[in-house]
Amino acid sequence: MSYPYLSAAEAATFVKHGMNIGVSGFTPAGSPKAVTPEIAKIAEAEHAKGNPFQISLFSGASTGESCDGILSRTHAMRYRAPYTTNGDFRKAVNNGEIAYNDIHLSQMAQELRYGFFGKLDVAIIEACELTADGKIYLTAAGGISPTVAQMADKIIVELNAFHSKNSIGLHDVYQPLDPPVRREIPIYKPSDRIGTPYIQVDPKKIVGVVEVNIPDEARGFTEPDEVTTQIGHNVASFLAADLKRGIIPKTFLPLQSGVGNIANAVLAALGHDKNIPAFEMYTEVIQDSVIALMKEGRIKFGSTCSLSVTNECLGEIYENMAFFGDKLVMRPSEISNNPEIVRRLGIVAMNTAIEADIYGNVNSTHITGTKMMNGLGGSGDFTRNAYISIFSCPSVAKGGCISAIVPMVSHVDHNEHSVNVVITEQGIADLRGKSPVERAHEIIEKCAHPDYKQILWDYLKLAGKGQTPHSLKAALGMHVSLLEKGDMRLTNWADYAN
Ligand code: COA
Repeated sequence: MSYPYLSAAEAATFVKHGMNIGVSGFTPAGSPKAVTPEIAKIAEAEHAKGNPFQISLFSGASTGESCDGILSRTHAMRYRAPYTTNGDFRKAVNNGEIAYNDIHLSQMAQELRYGFFGKLDVAIIEACELTADGKIYLTAAGGISPTVAQMADKIIVELNAFHSKNSIGLHDVYQPLDPPVRREIPIYKPSDRIGTPYIQVDPKKIVGVVEVNIPDEARGFTEPDEVTTQIGHNVASFLAADLKRGIIPKTFLPLQSGVGNIANAVLAALGHDKNIPAFEMYTEVIQDSVIALMKEGRIKFGSTCSLSVTNECLGEIYENMAFFGDKLVMRPSEISNNPEIVRRLGIVAMNTAIEADIYGNVNSTHITGTKMMNGLGGSGDFTRNAYISIFSCPSVAKGGCISAIVPMVSHVDHNEHSVNVVITEQGIADLRGKSPVERAHEIIEKCAHPDYKQILWDYLKLAGKGQTPHSLKAALGMHVSLLEKGDMRLTNWADYAN
């Protein structure tokens, strides 16, 4: 079948006010970059005429500036799920302008199929190749593309020449059956391939192909500093000690690593620690540090949902497929983050906290309980099902005015039942096998910044005795101090004494 080749502006006219739109991508990698800015232009034109124009947008995870950024600024989004990292989107969400549903990434595709979000009208998929019989070869991410391509009434393909056809074969596309007929997902080691290298769609649903040559909109990372490097060393020495004690098998376990500056620094430290053998990854995002470690032979294999790397790094992969081709696989997010597989493979999950409380509950998403930072991402998919779940963060933020260790988290993403280890630059709190009070002692002693240790000990004293001691009046006292006095160090427990 031959497809209609359209301009991005022409393709965007298939998108109407009130529609549900699914897009490819997972992080800015692999997300559409040409049609979405044209949807934003339509929204602006309609708004100027006094007409409503807003869509609901579904993706694998965050997208780039050309999608979440532009659509947020032009008020073209009514609803968005699941994860995002864009600054303009964050502003719009925290102003109450966009309805944001921050769900576990592994659940996005299946919940679309279950019908929780209604029908899908249009799918916009970035591809490096498209065949006449409806085979779509994805670019730098798996995301929810197989599901949105299957569900949408109409498909628009952004055929992006920036992504080399050399990359064909990096994807392993597999969609599980839905209950009550779902079977096990037959992945028994990170490198197992169980699907096809393409998405098969009905070619008649492809209403437009837009040819472009646009680089990915990957974010850079800040270089590791003294604090993040120390966190990395602490994570590495914790894992090395567990290996020595025989808790981690000699062959080691696959690792999952989260997103952001801290995760990047942790992975670099782990890779260079000679006490840790060369390892495999079963993760959702591969960043530049993984590719560097692969070249050094420190990472043997990487299963991921996306290659969220700089364009320079992506180019290097595409040009060296003889080396990388059998060391990388990209999967849809419901497979890369699948709880069944995480539990089976025994993954060591390493994610980042905004704050953790003295009992081991973790907040990864909200600043002072109300302001959305990014979202949950896949951290819950991995944490709840991991062999060992680790959270790390600097012990203080904003020049020391904020302690990452608090009496009670102001928002809970991961609870005390799922979190095994908390690590800051100060040290390692191993929570395994400990009661809540034992955990509180471990976390305050090992992880809190010296400026906050006494404040936290005093809180524990104020909280009294019990299974999980708290003073409900004082539990958020450090946050109140931050909001009222600009500094958690000025917390005065006497204000809550009776
Ligand atoms: N209160 C206020 N601000 C805080 C804070 C706290 N307790 N803790 C961190 N911050 C701020 C930092 O100061 C920094 O602000 P800035 O951008 O103005 O400098 C920002 O949050 C990011 O912190 P940083 O220390 O640079 O860490 P990061 O880049 O590693 O990001 C998370 C940390 C938690 C925001 C990020 O990892 C995330 O979004 N995680 C949730 C999703 C997830 O885990 N996905 C992975 C699954 S695979």
